[in-house]
Amino acid sequence: MRLVAWLALGWMAAGCNGTDSGTDGDTECIGGASRTEDILCLEGDTTNGATVFHARCSVCHLEDGSGVYGTFPDIRGTAAADTIDAILNPAIGMTDFTSVLSNQEMADAAAHVETL
Ligand code: HEC
Repeated sequence: MRLVAWLALGWMAAGCNGTDSGTDGDTECIGGASRTEDILCLEGDTTNGATVFHARCSVCHLEDGSGVYGTFPDIRGTAAADTIDAILNPAIGMTDFTSVLSNQEMADAAAHVETL
C-alpha cells in the first residue's frame, strides 16, 4: 500500500514537468489546456488529502472509500486522474465541489483516494 502511494506521488510529480504549458518556463501548475491538467500537474499531499476526504467525501463514500452498495460507489484505489475527473464532472447524486475545493485540495483528495 505504501509503495503504491509513493508510485502515485512519483507519477504526479513527473506529470508536473510534463504538463506545465505556461510560457514563463517555470513549473507552476496553471495555464494547462484544462483544469484537469492543472490539477494533475500538482503533487497530491496524502495527509491533507485525508483531511479533505474526511470533510467532503466520507459522508457518502465512507471513511474507507468502500461506499454504500447500490448508492455510493466503492472508490478505493481509484487512479488520481479518474478521481479528479469525477470531482470536476460530478455525477448525479454527487456534490459539486468545483467551486468549493481548490486545485490543490482536489489533487490532495485524489492522492488520498489512491491509497485507500
Ligand atoms: C452527496 C454524496 C457524495 C459526496 C459528498 C461525494 N460523492 Fe463521489 N459520488 C457520489 C455518487 C452518487 C457518485 C456516482 C455514482 C454513479 O453514478 O455511478 C459518485 C462518484 C464518484 C467517483 C466515481 C466512481 C465511479 O466508479 O465511477 C469518484 C472517484 C468519487 N465519486 C469521488 C469523490 C470524492 C473524492 C469526493 C469528495 C471530494 C466525493 N466523491 C464526494 C456521491 C458523492
